[in-house]
Amino acid sequence: MPTDAIVLLKNDHKEILKTFKQFEKAGENAVKLKGQLVDKMIELLNVHTYIENEVMYPRVRELLPELEDDVLESYEEHHVADVLVIELAAMKPDAERFDAKTTVLIENVRHHIEEEEQEWFPKVRAGLGRKQLQELGAAMEEAKKKAPTRPSQPSALKKAVDAVIS
Ligand SMILES: [Fe+2]
Ligand SMILES: [Fe+2]
Repeated sequence: MPTDAIVLLKNDHKEILKTFKQFEKAGENAVKLKGQLVDKMIELLNVHTYIENEVMYPRVRELLPELEDDVLESYEEHHVADVLVIELAAMKPDAERFDAKTTVLIENVRHHIEEEEQEWFPKVRAGLGRKQLQELGAAMEEAKKKAPTRPSQPSALKKAVDAVIS
């Protein structure tokens, strides 16, 4: 049986939040570990953002036009995270701003995940049937296979810029 879209996204969130906690517990001098954790965050965030941007958001926008404002706000929040992820991916873990930038990324993404889980998902679940949520889940499983795991500089940057000017 295909996974329900909201269950799938919540599982992703859990994994992402786990890397945040690990980063926060790592301590001042754990430069190598923090570098590895940020690599993991980048990978998880890239895949998760991709499947939401490519599948979840556009389909929900189409099926539940009353949720359009929420979707647009989410695209903007993803955009802010994308910019931080691109910068972090190009930064060495011993750089002066590495921890600060990661902390800002964590704050932003935590806020976004909270809004999705507490405000948005309940509206989506109320608006869509079980079958539609399972179809969306299957489509996202499929999209995961071709999701980028690193912000391939030019295309990711282009996407970030397009989001500002479109
Ligand atoms: Fe999101
Ligand atoms: Fe999400």
